[in-house]
Amino acid sequence: MKQFLLIFLFFILSVSSLSASEIQKWLRPTTVPVPQDNLLTQERIELGKLLFFDVRLSRDNTISCATCHHPKRGWTDLVPVTKALGFKKKRGPRNSPTLLNVAYQNRQFWDGRVKTLEEQALGPLEADIEMNMPLSTLIPKLNAISGYVKLFKIAYPNEGLTKESLAKAIASFERTIVSTESPFDRYIKGDKKAMSPNAIKGFELFKNKAHCTDCHDGFNFTDGSFHNIGLNDGELQGKELGRYNVKKRAAWYGVMKTPTLRDVTKSYPYFHDGSVQTLKEATALCASGGRYEMDVKNKSTSMKDRELNEQEIDQIVSFTKTLTGPDLDIIIPKKFPQ
Ligand code: HEC
Ligand code: HEC
Repeated sequence: MKQFLLIFLFFILSVSSLSASEIQKWLRPTTVPVPQDNLLTQERIELGKLLFFDVRLSRDNTISCATCHHPKRGWTDLVPVTKALGFKKKRGPRNSPTLLNVAYQNRQFWDGRVKTLEEQALGPLEADIEMNMPLSTLIPKLNAISGYVKLFKIAYPNEGLTKESLAKAIASFERTIVSTESPFDRYIKGDKKAMSPNAIKGFELFKNKAHCTDCHDGFNFTDGSFHNIGLNDGELQGKELGRYNVKKRAAWYGVMKTPTLRDVTKSYPYFHDGSVQTLKEATALCASGGRYEMDVKNKSTSMKDRELNEQEIDQIVSFTKTLTGPDLDIIIPKKFPQ
């Protein structure tokens, strides 16, 4: 009898439409959170966009933010671990994350070491493996470009061109990098034909049997939190300690931020180390409890072998593909202030 009830319950869950509160949770918001001291204006966004694409922000005028976060490459660089893209072709240890929906994040970077986009923006400029441009050189360099001085005066009349307003302008542009309407969004709004039966089955698996929503939850498919999903071996080879690098707390050992799955088809390779090329492989890895069979120290208790067969993995992949919308309609600047 109990078994029958369970089967019945499962049947109801898998064919019923979503409740109103559940629909609410998956709906794409129409606004982004904006800090009081950097309200969004068209002037700030346009200025931030110029700065984002301007290679003069790097020491040798060869690298812009877009080098590693390009709108036509899923706001990332599509190469494993920023291979040879940084200053003098140096490479960092981590994969460039997409900038899609960073506006909704309370922590930036894989290990969440800074909170706001304003704090984040100045980091890559100075990092020697990224743009290698000390702010003490950059701010005078930009102040010598009268076109920029003018635009800053309009966008930040009380501040002028300082490192703070530079960071604010870039952050304003980043707040416009939000996901567009995907088949999943149309499905959630009631167009039941927007997703294939396989993708709908995948959505059920994603929420229930596969437990993906333990971490990839809500419209942006992230809990904004950090987990060790068992990518590294038991001792993490002493290399990638994740959030433990920020503070030596036992619970932070090897944990990384849950990335969004919006537009995830565009932002391969996957994971902080860029070690996986395909969505299917990444899905199989997450559904089987991580890369290693052995117990990884501090691995999340949500990472277990969910014993999915290949068809079920494919259905989850069909579902995550429905989270991709058209590219943002963005005109990449060709001319820059002189
Ligand atoms: C050489 C490649 C490179 C360049 C140039 C670069 N980035 Fe990044 N960016 C990265 C990498 C790699 C990370 C992840 C680093 C980490 O988590 O430790 C990152 C992380 C970020 C994040 C955090 C995203 C998240 O989801 O946590 C933001 C925001 C960002 N970059 C914006 C920028 C801006 C703005 C610029 C230009 C001022 C820029 N980046 C220049 C490679 C680059
Ligand atoms: C315990 C929390 C947790 C669970 C459960 C989980 N994930 Fe993740 N997922 C993460 C974290 C954290 C990362 C980033 C880890 C890293 O790179 O070190 C990630 C990365 C990914 C990526 C790579 C995204 C990118 O941009 O690099 C995909 C795809 C993914 N997960 C899909 C899934 C699917 C599908 C499921 C269910 C089968 C699932 N995840 C279950 C936390 C989780």
